[in-house]
Amino acid sequence: MRIVLGVTGGIAAYKATTIIRQLTEAGHSVQVVPTQNALRFIGAATLEALSHHAVDSDLYTDVADVKHVQIGQNAELIIVAPATASFLARYANGIADDLLGNALLATKAPVLVAPAMHTEMWQHPATMANVATLRARGVSVLDPASGRLTGEDSGPGRLPEAEEIIAAALALTNPQDLAGRTLLITAGGTQEAIDPVRFIGNKSSGKQGLAIARAAKARGAKVCLIGANIGDCSREVDEFVPVTSASEIEIAVNSRLDATDVLVMAAAVSDYRVAEVSQHKLKRSEIGDEITLKLIANPDILRSAQDRIDSQKLSTVTVGFAAETAGSQQQLLELARIKLATKGCDILVANDVSGGAVFGQDSNKVAIIARNGDINIVEGSKTLVAERLLDSVASALA
Ligand code: CTP
Repeated sequence: MRIVLGVTGGIAAYKATTIIRQLTEAGHSVQVVPTQNALRFIGAATLEALSHHAVDSDLYTDVADVKHVQIGQNAELIIVAPATASFLARYANGIADDLLGNALLATKAPVLVAPAMHTEMWQHPATMANVATLRARGVSVLDPASGRLTGEDSGPGRLPEAEEIIAAALALTNPQDLAGRTLLITAGGTQEAIDPVRFIGNKSSGKQGLAIARAAKARGAKVCLIGANIGDCSREVDEFVPVTSASEIEIAVNSRLDATDVLVMAAAVSDYRVAEVSQHKLKRSEIGDEITLKLIANPDILRSAQDRIDSQKLSTVTVGFAAETAGSQQQLLELARIKLATKGCDILVANDVSGGAVFGQDSNKVAIIARNGDINIVEGSKTLVAERLLDSVASALA
């Protein structure tokens, strides 16, 4: 896609580099249009090197090319990140005294603006009124994230993460094939307590589940994310339920299943928990050289959800994950077919985790297997895997 990235003059301008890199890596063509003040924070050479395009912010160079109009007309999507209070004021008032301002007035493409500034400036009535004006005109304006700001202060005003900005921007051009659908997605890895300090856990980072949640939001779905030990993702979804253990996931899934169109069990759920969790810290000085922990089975959340879906004749589409240590692709597919049958789910995403290489990474290689036998091998970013999985989900819903 042809994307114009406007960068305005705030300290967060350096974060535009991450946005450019992620967009170009995903195959988009990125033309950066910085304001003069943005170039006080980040050099044109950096922006040119990362975007592979000449960078210009001057209205009065190459005037014969009518670039002040062409940039906006050629764009399929415009992102402005970071957007300062001053930029918001100019854009809300249609002021086109620089290249970015002209591009924005000349475009018919969707526009996403990601403001970043100090809390007082963001909350000032003038800024609020400008944001309201832009939103009323159909411009998508993200709320800034909360956290540490440039000085000693903290509060709302930080630039959201590059992934969030990009997902929200691409959502403006995406097919809305999941509009009106509710997705319940579990992500991360469970922790089963041994005592108040220790737990039994696993290596899942939650990145794949979060990528599915973001992609589903971008395709118009209402998303509830049940996050097992993945930090606070409440900004990214409609409902975020932080959990720790398998039984907490089970409660969260069961109470929402009836109102769910698609259940995606991407979380790595512990199959066992400690039978008797110690209320006080186990002490080596008291235990000695050996300890035996008795483990008991956790419920199979996906299997029992599927049983309920079948017995109540719900039309919920279910997606299971299988992390296997298979010796070959053929063996992986065989194990995946068996798991698809035992879990009873509609779609199974299988990956080979031999050596643990996939955990915490941004890319993945999976086999997406549908109940009707269709197999799709996908290799690439976890975002790409999420998109291809949601293609299968959309056809299962249809
Ligand atoms: N799962 C679940 N409840 C559990 C364990 C797993 O709902 N108690 C879900 C996972 O979220 C995943 C799928 O089942 O979508 C497969 O998980 P996996 O651990 O690979 O399968 P298991 O059923 O545990 O089978 P095994 O350990 O024998 O491979």
